[in-house]
Amino acid sequence: MTDRAKSQKSRPSAKHNVAANRTILRVQQHLHKRQQLEVQRNQRRLFQEANRLKRLPQYLFTILDDLKAQAKARGIDVIDLGMGNPDLPSPVPVVEELCRQAKKLENHGYSRPDGQAERQLREAIAQWYHRKFHVQLDPKAEVLPLIGSKEGISHLSLAFLNHDDIALVPNPSYPVHFNGVIMAGGILYSIPINAEHGWLPNLKGINREVLKMAKMMFISYPHNPTSAIADIKFFEDVVEWAKSHRIMLVHDFAYSDIVFDGYNAPSVMQVNGARDIGVEFHTLSKSYNMAGWRLGFAVGNQDVLASLSKTKSYIDFGLFRAVQWAAIKALTGPQDHVTQTVEIYRKRRDMFVEGLNKIGWHVPLPKATFYIWAKIPLKFSALTALEFATLLMQEAGVVCSPGTGFGEYGEGYVRFALVAPEPRLKEAVTRIRKVLQMVS
Ligand SMILES: Cc1ncc(COP(=O)(O)O)c(C=O)c1O
Repeated sequence: MTDRAKSQKSRPSAKHNVAANRTILRVQQHLHKRQQLEVQRNQRRLFQEANRLKRLPQYLFTILDDLKAQAKARGIDVIDLGMGNPDLPSPVPVVEELCRQAKKLENHGYSRPDGQAERQLREAIAQWYHRKFHVQLDPKAEVLPLIGSKEGISHLSLAFLNHDDIALVPNPSYPVHFNGVIMAGGILYSIPINAEHGWLPNLKGINREVLKMAKMMFISYPHNPTSAIADIKFFEDVVEWAKSHRIMLVHDFAYSDIVFDGYNAPSVMQVNGARDIGVEFHTLSKSYNMAGWRLGFAVGNQDVLASLSKTKSYIDFGLFRAVQWAAIKALTGPQDHVTQTVEIYRKRRDMFVEGLNKIGWHVPLPKATFYIWAKIPLKFSALTALEFATLLMQEAGVVCSPGTGFGEYGEGYVRFALVAPEPRLKEAVTRIRKVLQMVS
């Protein structure tokens, strides 16, 4: 086949163009309407938002939320695989502990960092760390409970970034990594990552002048949205690199437990000397299905944690003590609930990936997280990720996240979160098939 014939073959058909154009038009109309509403709102507003809020990228998920609400209003049965919001229940003993502790009057006041609940929670976290990663932590100085890891990650930028400090953030990434930098008024420097390099940042490719101004570097493996994983050698290299450039290393380890096929996700703290320059963030949201409870923690460098704690002391009063006691139960109790959760995600992953492969959408089988990061099929490559996600929602009632919701280098991809039971995922594949068949 000649090159020309090949390119014509991969070009979208006329039928596809009609669907694509219709979708693009709808998205554009929607964006235009939102912009107009924003202008009207601004005209009505007495006070203008701070520039740092205006500098935040458009939150694509709110666009999809609007479209989702419209689809539901039209009576469409929506299968929502957009947000990474676990659908599985929190462990029963943990819920029972929360109820028991919530009834106690002494748990109802403001929490104190030196109170009994927080002290024991720090110890439970240190023990959990030791059991899982054989890393010894000082519960007082090297552990900090958080109101969810998102809170801690964003406040870390606030604690450290001045207007002339650069934060290095791989792109695509979990949005809080870059939005926290913008909110803090620091300089965001994106490091593009791609499939060819296993979605790992190329540290050697970073400009020298940028490195001089860089104060922090965010990484996160297993990775959201790509599900990429890293080995301990990668962490050793990053720690050495961060030390040599005097850059704070921030590792977001939200998916430490959601791993498959015998893969064990290493902690950056397992690297010798990592705590000299680094901190690692965890959450109970994914491992224990406790997303709404808002409980995370950071471990590692004690000076960094002290500054984060100081920042937080001006902003919040810590966690509800009943939640802290329940978290202790989760971390110190039997871990079979975590094993069962992972097994459910593994089955969903196998079913969904096999289903997509069968209908001609070839996606890799991830070794971790509950996300499927899928390259938009070639015949739809005329569409942006947002347009393709909108097409899936409007034509199939299946919600996924556009790759660009995680940064511009997520273009060309969409992310499915496997947060629905298997029959719903099966139904999603059947419906997606019909959309793929719209184009011959
Ligand atoms: C990589 C990553 N970090 C942090 C979070 C937020 O976790 P939390 O619920 O503890 O704020 C998420 C949530 O999806 C995530 O994907």
